[in-house]
Amino acid sequence: MVQETRALGWGRRYMMCPPDHFQVAYAINPWMGGTVDPDRAMAEWQDLVDTIRSAGGEVEVNPAQPGLPDMVFSANAGVVDGTTFIAGRMRHAERVEEVGHVSNWAIHNGFDVQALSDGALLEGLGDAMPLADAMVVGYGARSNEIAHADLHRLTGREIIPVHLADLRWYHVDLTLCPLDDQRAMVFPDAYDAVGAARVLDRIPEPLVLTEDEASTFAANSIVVGSTVIMPAAPLRVGRQLEAWGFDVVVVEVGEFAKAGGAVRCLTLPLDTQLSVVPSTIE
Ligand code: ARG
Repeated sequence: MVQETRALGWGRRYMMCPPDHFQVAYAINPWMGGTVDPDRAMAEWQDLVDTIRSAGGEVEVNPAQPGLPDMVFSANAGVVDGTTFIAGRMRHAERVEEVGHVSNWAIHNGFDVQALSDGALLEGLGDAMPLADAMVVGYGARSNEIAHADLHRLTGREIIPVHLADLRWYHVDLTLCPLDDQRAMVFPDAYDAVGAARVLDRIPEPLVLTEDEASTFAANSIVVGSTVIMPAAPLRVGRQLEAWGFDVVVVEVGEFAKAGGAVRCLTLPLDTQLSVVPSTIE
C-alpha cells in the first residue's frame, strides 16, 4: 500500500463524456485511423467508469454532443483549479466547439469559468499536467506559449514548458503521469532537452519509459489513490508500479486508441487545486 502521506492530492473526482457520438471522422494526430465499433466503445467507456468507482473515485457525466466525435476526450476542454474552470482553446477547428459545451457543464456544476487571452491555445489538462508545485505545459503540437503566461497568471504556479516536436506525442498526458509526491511515469524523449531536464529535476523517483513503452499509452493513465488505471501495463512498468505499492488495473480502451487517446484523455479531473488557497488566520 502506498503511504497516504505520499498520495497525490487530486485524482479522485472526474468528469467524463460518454461515446454516443464518438468515431474517427478525421485525422488530427498520427494515431487516428480505423473504424470505431460503437457498442465496444460504449462497453469500454462504461468499464472505465466502473473501474474508477471501484477504486474509490467519483465520476460525473457530461452528455455528448452530436457532431463532436472527440468530445469523449474530456481532459482536453480545460483545467480545473479549485472552483474555477479554466476553459481551454483547441487548435483544430474540428474540436473548437467542445469547449463551450464543457464550460456550460462547468457553470451548471458551480464552477466559475475563466477564459484564456486572445491567441492562447490550451488543450486542457491534456497539455497542462500538475507536477509537484509546478505545471508541465506542452507547446508546439497543440497548445501554445501564450497559454503558459495565462496559466501562470491564473494559478500562480511555476510553468515548466516542454516543446512537443514529434506529433505522435502531441499532448503532455501521453508522456507524463504523476503517481505520488515522489514518483511519476515520464517519457522525456518527447521533450526538448531543457524541458526534459527540468521535468526530471522535479521527479525524485522517475519511471522513465522507453519509446515502446510510451507507445502503448502507458503514461496516459490515471491514479485514484493507490490504484493506477492504465490502458496497458508493459511488464517492466507494471512490476515497478507494484513494487512501489500501487495496484495496477488495466482497462481495455482499444476503440479510443483509434483516435489517439486512452484513459487520461477520457477523464477530466475535478479536484485539482492549482492556486494556493490563502490559509485563514484566526
Ligand atoms: N483525437 C483526439 C485529438 O487528437 C484525441 C485526444 C486525446 N487526448 C489526450 N489528452 N491525449 O485531439
